[in-house]
Amino acid sequence: MKKIGILVGQETSFPEALIDNINQRDAGVTAEMALLEGTPHSWAGEYAVILDRISHEVAYYQTTLKVAALNGCKVVNNPFWKLADDKFFGTALVEKLGIAVPRTLALPQCQNVEGISAESLRNIKYPLDWDGIMGWIGFPAIIKPHWGGGWKSVDKVENMQELMDAYHESKTLCMMLQEFIEWDQYVRCICIGKNKINVLPWDPSLPHHERYSKAKVDLSEAMRTKIIDQAIALNDALGYDMNTVEFAIRDDIPYAIDFMNSAPDLDKNSLTPDQFVWAVDTMAEFLIEKARKPENDELPMRWDHLLSE
Ligand SMILES: Nc1ncnc2c1ncn2[C@@H]1O[C@H](COP(=O)(O)OP(=O)(O)OP(=O)(O)O)[C@@H](O)[C@H]1O
Ligand SMILES: [Mg+2]
Repeated sequence: MKKIGILVGQETSFPEALIDNINQRDAGVTAEMALLEGTPHSWAGEYAVILDRISHEVAYYQTTLKVAALNGCKVVNNPFWKLADDKFFGTALVEKLGIAVPRTLALPQCQNVEGISAESLRNIKYPLDWDGIMGWIGFPAIIKPHWGGGWKSVDKVENMQELMDAYHESKTLCMMLQEFIEWDQYVRCICIGKNKINVLPWDPSLPHHERYSKAKVDLSEAMRTKIIDQAIALNDALGYDMNTVEFAIRDDIPYAIDFMNSAPDLDKNSLTPDQFVWAVDTMAEFLIEKARKPENDELPMRWDHLLSE
């Protein structure tokens, strides 16, 4: 019997519902909370698949999942890509797919991390040309970490003073500056298995628990199709099997805003009941299929030739 292990953080609704859903299907595959107790380097565990909802916050899980993948376990999301990823690179990559993105610029960190002195940073031309930078980005702008989540250190700035305050506040974080898209409509797509896309109205201006349930959009069929196609292209390029992708729609153009959520919020208190059922069902089907497949359809790794059958 193939086994699926789930690695979780504080959340309590999605993992439990997913485990029950898989176990009730009688599909020759079982699911359980993954249990770890120190990882030998040859570890693949007893799991055909591990669904990872938390390694971004636990370094021990990160290193364990990479070794699990090396030893043949299928890990969702791909633990290597996840660690290589960042929002600035993602923005540049996504534009190459023909998807609209806000004008975006990476900034040198405001403060030096410990052990780094001015001599180590001779390649950066100071002072930064803020007028030139903002002449291109324009106000209002968003300043946010190149690798972040939970809206931490994300600020909308209206003028140079607000920008300087937010930049100084960011301290040693690597920040990026982004054109603020004044949107007419906003959607968030829950994406499972790269190509199962649920396009949902999502209003970031509402309180957290109402962002899905109280949001409204009116999308033409052509716009909905375009968003689905772009979300699939984006998941394919980034390699995510579990993701949420946000688009801000301005003048009939969907701009990709946040598309790197490797462990998206799928809590039943955030989603509507229908949306929650869709997420649990779709993920259960995806994981069962993945567990049953003999082959690992992840990107080829440079060490694949070392692995025995
Ligand atoms: N360029 C932009 N134009 C308009 N709105 C933006 C822009 N960038 C960010 N936002 C708004 O700020 C919110 C938070 O930004 P973002 O999602 O990039 O940060 P985050 O920390 O990754 O958040 P999360 O935890 O949701 O992933 C977005 O959901 C969006 O509503
Ligand atoms: Mg976000």
